[in-house]
Amino acid sequence: MSHPVAEERPAAHGDALNLVRAAVAEAAGPAAAAQRVVDLLHDRFPQYDWVGIYWVDGSDLVLGPWVGPEATEHTRIPIGTGVCGAAAATGRTEIVPDVDQDPRYLACFASTRSEIVVPIFDGGEVIGEIDIDGSDRDAFDEADARFLEEVAALLAPLRPRA
Ligand code: SME
Repeated sequence: MSHPVAEERPAAHGDALNLVRAAVAEAAGPAAAAQRVVDLLHDRFPQYDWVGIYWVDGSDLVLGPWVGPEATEHTRIPIGTGVCGAAAATGRTEIVPDVDQDPRYLACFASTRSEIVVPIFDGGEVIGEIDIDGSDRDAFDEADARFLEEVAALLAPLRPRA
């Protein structure tokens, strides 16, 4: 017998998803909503050290709202470059357990040891992604991936208009 997804999901993820839904519904506009979502992810999950959203702009990813200890110099990343660009090119969630072992990794912060990148889709098309850096190795697992894929679906309507 199969179990409902909600029973398998860690409680923290279910609670955070409800907060994300509320933030998206209640924010003044799409940019404010996207900022609230990154703030909320950062605040609720201590291992999410730096949380940002990149939006697709032509053949690049452009940094949107972010929260973390430092700004990144990678505010525009060509699709296909780095872990971020790989996820955008393939449409697949990337979990990098050890950034020192991944030749694609574009370094942003000296403290980063692991990373997760989750595409945001509109229909079948990648329109953006959630990028999270952690300062521990193996900070992200499949439960984070499934949770962040649900968050990504809620972010899709918040893409800035060209
Ligand atoms: N590390 C990313 C670049 C973005 S920064 O982590 C914010 C990458 O390899 O694509």
